[in-house]
Amino acid sequence: MAVDVLLGLQWGDEGKGKIVDYLSDRYDVVARFQGGPNAGHTIVIGDDKHVLHTIPSGIFRKDITNVIGNGVVIDPITLEKELNKLKKANVTFDNLYVAKKAHLILPTHRYLDAASEASKGKMKIGSTLKGIGPTYMDKTGRNGLRVGDVLSSGFLEKYEALKAKHLGMMKMYPEVEFDLEGEEEKWMDSLDTLRNLKSIDCAYYLNSQIKAGKKILAEGAQGSMLDIDFGTYPYVTSSSTMTAGVCTGLGIAPSAIGKVLGITKAYCTRVGSGPFPTQLDDHAGETLRKIGQEFGATTGRPRRCGWIDIPQLKYTIMINGVTHLTVTKLDVLNTFEHIMAAEKYKVNGVETEELPYELDNSLITPIYKSIDGWQSDLSDVKEYDSLPDAAKSFITYLEKALGIPVVYVSTGPARRSLIEKV
Ligand code: GDP
Ligand code: IMO
Ligand code: MG
Repeated sequence: MAVDVLLGLQWGDEGKGKIVDYLSDRYDVVARFQGGPNAGHTIVIGDDKHVLHTIPSGIFRKDITNVIGNGVVIDPITLEKELNKLKKANVTFDNLYVAKKAHLILPTHRYLDAASEASKGKMKIGSTLKGIGPTYMDKTGRNGLRVGDVLSSGFLEKYEALKAKHLGMMKMYPEVEFDLEGEEEKWMDSLDTLRNLKSIDCAYYLNSQIKAGKKILAEGAQGSMLDIDFGTYPYVTSSSTMTAGVCTGLGIAPSAIGKVLGITKAYCTRVGSGPFPTQLDDHAGETLRKIGQEFGATTGRPRRCGWIDIPQLKYTIMINGVTHLTVTKLDVLNTFEHIMAAEKYKVNGVETEELPYELDNSLITPIYKSIDGWQSDLSDVKEYDSLPDAAKSFITYLEKALGIPVVYVSTGPARRSLIEKV
């Protein structure tokens, strides 16, 4: 099969960027299939740290092609900033393509996002305020503007009509501060950068690559628990973050999909609002945040931290058809004497291994298994067999509990800190 998929199995920030960067030299094409600049994918190469929001994480490999797929929503301002930063790092964009059918985030989408959040009081989604929800609403509402529209005549009229609609909608919401004029000016300026990128029909392009025998890696953003259909609704993002989203987000058939590589941290995090059954509000949670440097790559917000959650992972492995597992941030657990894994939930007094419809923290008590920690540094470990026995036992435990093999174990942010488990 020509298309492998790599996606997050939790609430995002599992380390997708690092793993895509590592694996991308085994592929001809890396293609982002959904989400937008709400994503922050961190890649550490040598002393340099890069955070990508829209551009696929294969961009640091010279010989491969990177595609921003039609399922992605693009803010030309963020894209331009990202390109400029990468240029300074001597990254070239000859092999970067953008789908003509990808939708555009307008300044008024961000304005609406802010106003909508302000209207929700305690029920805030905790959106990144990048305009994601309103842009996907216009896409499904059949009002959106796409990359291809920027290239055609009549674009400004379409823009003005959509902006007018948005300003009308603003009457439903409380006033929020937003420099519309200033943001609009920046947006219009940044369109030239977008026009200068190579735009493609994503479906024709990728299918011709498949026909030519090329290997494609589809890069997910966010995580499966933030999926619009199967996540912790309404505390989710507005796109299909799961394997099914690869087909609609890139224009490829389900039959083209091969391996599905799921990523989980060795523990769990969530940024923004919404249920998180294994969240720790104690010293252990604080330790995970501190050692794991758990602060949002896009917004800088502290991430909520907790233990790894087996029912949650089993669910996302099931809905994605995950074939191989990657465990990241194992090193963050180095100092713990005991590591906990939620094996079941007690919901209204009844034990279950399934996620209930109402995934409300107050209704769920996780039932934990305690696993011995290894209490040693992993930075010099290069081979799986050289990991401390307790660390290997933890990985074996995950494989058994989840029913799929672990193929990579990540032990640090750097590209080199990755152990292949063969
Ligand atoms: P993504 O959105 O899934 O790409 O993940 P983020 O980049 O938002 O967050 C992952 C964070 O963990 C980044 O700061 C990475 O540099 C870092 N990271 C990735 N893998 C590891 C690891 O194995 N150990 C440690 N300590 N940090 C890691
Ligand atoms: P990556 O790709 C973690 C969260 C937000 C909020 C909810 C909705 O880096 O893993 P949105 O801006 O999409 O309307 O926000 O989703 N969220 C993420 N959390 N990682 C991300 O991306 C996220 N993208 C959105 O915090 O709770
Ligand atoms: Mg991230």
